[in-house]
Amino acid sequence: MEALVCKKLGDPTQDPNDPASPVVLEKNQPIPELKSPTAVRVRVKVTSLNYANHLQIQGKYQEKFSLPFIPGSDYSGIVDAVGTAVSKFKVGDPVCSFAGLGSFAQFIVVDEADLFGVPEGCDLVAAGSLPVAFGTSHVALVHRAGLSPGQVLLVLGAAGGVGIAAVQIGKICGAVVIAVARGDEKVQYLKSLRVDHVVDSGKQNITESVKEFLRARKLKGVDVLYDPVGGDQTKETMRLLNWGAKILIIGFASGKIPVIPANIALVKNWTVHGLYWGSYKIHRPGVLEDSLRELLSWLARGLITVNISHIYSFSEAGLAFSAIKDRKVIGKVMLVADGGKTVRSKL
Ligand SMILES: NC(=O)c1ccc[n+]([C@@H]2O[C@H](COP(=O)([O-])OP(=O)(O)OC[C@H]3O[C@@H](n4cnc5c(N)ncnc54)[C@H](OP(=O)(O)O)[C@@H]3O)[C@@H](O)[C@H]2O)c1
Repeated sequence: MEALVCKKLGDPTQDPNDPASPVVLEKNQPIPELKSPTAVRVRVKVTSLNYANHLQIQGKYQEKFSLPFIPGSDYSGIVDAVGTAVSKFKVGDPVCSFAGLGSFAQFIVVDEADLFGVPEGCDLVAAGSLPVAFGTSHVALVHRAGLSPGQVLLVLGAAGGVGIAAVQIGKICGAVVIAVARGDEKVQYLKSLRVDHVVDSGKQNITESVKEFLRARKLKGVDVLYDPVGGDQTKETMRLLNWGAKILIIGFASGKIPVIPANIALVKNWTVHGLYWGSYKIHRPGVLEDSLRELLSWLARGLITVNISHIYSFSEAGLAFSAIKDRKVIGKVMLVADGGKTVRSKL
């Protein structure tokens, strides 16, 4: 089978057809076998490229993997083979899931307990892009922050993978949603999602623009900060937070880890939530599974939309990583496991 194999740490934007690249496209990887009676083999259709994959290949992620490894986390596809004791799935079923590693391949093997059926009416490509981005934002906003109607939610990196998900989930929860993104195209897309206020961080001062909006709407401040960016944006937006605000620490796309002063957190009664979605799989698997089921049902009912701005074959993986690195992605960038010939998407 074809798979993208990380052979050394380095820049993933290089051409995977070049054997000297850190990530190499290999055409003769063994097809993984069913190793237990409850194992299911999935023929991957699409797999998501997440910011974390970009960090993993550079060796900058919080978890380190021994080389060589096949990167990749969330994916969708069709059941290709089932173990003798599998009861929930049969060959041909559309499914999606996520793994620690291994989805940048034509086949992946998973236990049936870790697999989700893609419901009728759900686009298979959209389902493959859902788990990490929407899963993270859903667990953060619904489970951790308990976002409620009328609260003010401020989303940084709002046109990125987790950001667009946070914006949509915020609207579903009935929050007043303020989004921060850079550039006209991203701002226009966010406006199309009926976001209450969008700040173009390339042109506007974030604090001034948000304060002006809050004044006009007679709102005091921000109740929940969703932060996948870190650095200066976190520092700047802390001035906007209400008494009792919740800060969701999601990631550091800016490359800078922010400092949240404990004395101000004390005086203002803030709660800081560090959130590592993948670790719920070990510590609270039920929360993660319920969350993904709810998201799939929202997707099937058209309550959420996945925007895929870039889609590439495995042999174009370098371009896919460049899109993330150059901040060009609006929503998701996806890799098609079979070269894009057979994927049919309604998106
Ligand atoms: N905690 C978890 O469990 C979890 C789960 C998923 C993702 N994450 C983390 O969340 C972060 C965002 O992930 P994502 O998948 O949404 O990534 P993404 O699609 O690349 O979006 C990141 C956004 O950050 C903004 N940004 C601001 N400064 C940036 C900079 N210097 N370089 C790059 N981007 C910058 C960009 O928006 P503008 O260009 O509009 O400013 C971009 O749209 C990453 O750090 C990722 O590791 C964490």
